[in-house]
Amino acid sequence: MADMDNFKEATAFGVGTPQKTIGFPLKGCSNLDWGMKNRLSRIFNPKDGKSLMLACDHGFIMGPTGGVERVDLSIVPLMKYADCLMCTRGILRSVIPPTNTIPVCLRSDAGSSILTNLNDNVVIDPEDAIRMNVSAMAVMVAVGDELMEAKTMANLYHTVDIGQKYGIPVMGVTAVGKQMARDAKYFRLATRMCAENGANIVKSYYTEGFETVTASCPVPIVIAGGKKIPERDALELAYRAMNEGAAGVDMGRNVFQSENPAAMIRAVAAVIHKNMKPEEAYQMYQDLSK
Ligand code: R5P
Repeated sequence: MADMDNFKEATAFGVGTPQKTIGFPLKGCSNLDWGMKNRLSRIFNPKDGKSLMLACDHGFIMGPTGGVERVDLSIVPLMKYADCLMCTRGILRSVIPPTNTIPVCLRSDAGSSILTNLNDNVVIDPEDAIRMNVSAMAVMVAVGDELMEAKTMANLYHTVDIGQKYGIPVMGVTAVGKQMARDAKYFRLATRMCAENGANIVKSYYTEGFETVTASCPVPIVIAGGKKIPERDALELAYRAMNEGAAGVDMGRNVFQSENPAAMIRAVAAVIHKNMKPEEAYQMYQDLSK
């Protein structure tokens, strides 16, 4: 156990002084190998270093939740608006057309359902990820979970070893237990632990003080959208995250549970890639919904 006496609180985040990137648009990725950079460039548009990832992996833990009952009907038509698709191998093989050319961030761990607490987690055989030609592997990490913290961090660590071997970036997915505070201090800890253990991308949630989370994480952060909120609020969430240092969003429910998912994903894309203000993006959503 680390000595926590006189533990110095972190304050020197250097917010406003972006980490330097040399010869590659994504922070912390300049020293990676060609294959890694090429795959990252498929996910994050090389022109602006930003990404709109469309998440539809919810069924791996929630089953056919609202909006992903039929991925073929709800998600496939939206893929053309996204920079990347995040899904499981089951959905990839059964529903996503192999003629699809947008990159895939593969949900690469599996374990508990929503019926229980997180109780075990396994990671995919990397050869299967390679067979599916994925551009990234996503593995969940439960920082602060007494039972699963070390196991899930070991999963991430192991997946990074494999990713390094084959040039496949790994996304650490911060999972927040129901009892944990979703504050900046927690996300600084969880995202930084993912990066320190080798994640090339980290998925977080937005929180007050988010700029300190992105500043203290040396690799790109994307935010999950979280539970469905009004479209205007979801666009505001994306705008704030992007302007406080996120490199993108990995959004699911706020797109596929929207009244008009195609309009919503296009409005989110405008926020991500054009830095469109929330009011204007919401107007765009409304116009496209007519
Ligand atoms: C969470 O672990 C899932 O992997 C989702 O992909 C993620 O939460 C993003 O989806 P949503 O925007 O619905 O939260």
